[in-house]
Amino acid sequence: MTSYDDLRKKIDELIDPGFNLPFKAVGGIKKLVVGPTGVVELELYLKDKQKNEQALKIQVIKLVKIELGFPGIKIDFFESEFIPEGEKPIKYLAVASGKGGVGKSSVTANLAAALIRQGKKVGIIDADVYGASIPNILQIDITPLNSTEDEKMIPLMKDGIEVISTEFFMPPDKPLMWRGPMLGKMLIHFFSGVKWQDNIDIILIDLPPGTGDVALDVKTYVPKSKILVVTTPHVNASHVAVKAGIGAQNIGHEVIGVVENMSYYMNTCSKTREYIFGQGGGETVAKKLGVPVIGQIPIGQPQQGNHLFGDKEEAGKIYNEIAKSVIKEMEI
Ligand SMILES: Nc1ncnc2c1ncn2[C@@H]1O[C@H](COP(=O)(O)OP(=O)(O)OP(=O)(O)O)[C@@H](O)[C@H]1O
Ligand SMILES: [Mg+2]
Repeated sequence: MTSYDDLRKKIDELIDPGFNLPFKAVGGIKKLVVGPTGVVELELYLKDKQKNEQALKIQVIKLVKIELGFPGIKIDFFESEFIPEGEKPIKYLAVASGKGGVGKSSVTANLAAALIRQGKKVGIIDADVYGASIPNILQIDITPLNSTEDEKMIPLMKDGIEVISTEFFMPPDKPLMWRGPMLGKMLIHFFSGVKWQDNIDIILIDLPPGTGDVALDVKTYVPKSKILVVTTPHVNASHVAVKAGIGAQNIGHEVIGVVENMSYYMNTCSKTREYIFGQGGGETVAKKLGVPVIGQIPIGQPQQGNHLFGDKEEAGKIYNEIAKSVIKEMEI
């Protein structure tokens, strides 16, 4: 059996294929001990865990057991948080609600556009497998995706927003029952298998309604993602939004704020706000989560012919303010 020092040296020299650098250089070895019976315990943090874990596992087992003669090895893999020099970390913000139909996708798309107006580089992961709606909201012409040499998907771009969506991989007439299981797996690749534009500032994740699987996937694959909660003023929506927000906080996500959508209807004749869905939902959710309400969007559609609110429209101005809050909270 080899000495600990020799083992350490060999593990240090192993290459993380994601970075193409030795594990030692990227701080990828968090635990390396040899137990009393000679069994090696190793924790490796690697880039592109999804893609490289299996091959690396075989490589390490061969090295430790066959080449170095240790009787056994217990190995666990984690996602690396190492940022190479000159690269900036991608910041993620997931848009969640609890209840469906409150405007997550509309808020995601309009927030992306407002962030671009503020000079930021923005991408969207459309994580709603059953009800992908970002391509539709942005009116994206879906064309086959290109990929890079190392097989990363290149997103489509519309209005300066980069987008990746399961919709891009699916004939539109496939029945729903096929979509979930197949596309759920594909979604995982959106978190590590996409080549976003260089120096992208933020990626918004449009979550499906509810507090289910996808939220947990986000925790697994983007542990540092922050959350923006969307609700309507109605008590039914705010009640469930609180649950979604608390659920996210419980698994360790930071909720940065609440957007109240469909807050009021601006009556253009009387010039007064009409609170069609009641009042106070956003405030209630924000208080329970201990975060601010960062915007209240009126009921209305973008000006004729446009798919997003523009700078000149009331809602567009409100989105600009929300974007400024997001920039501050996300430090981008
Ligand atoms: N402020 C608003 N005023 C009027 N209509 C709105 C507003 N926000 C969203 N809508 C409309 O409400 C519907 C639901 O919005 P959207 O798809 O964004 O909600 P969602 O929360 O993403 O839904 P799902 O839970 O199905 O993903 C859409 O038809 C959208 O155009
Ligand atoms: Mg949606």
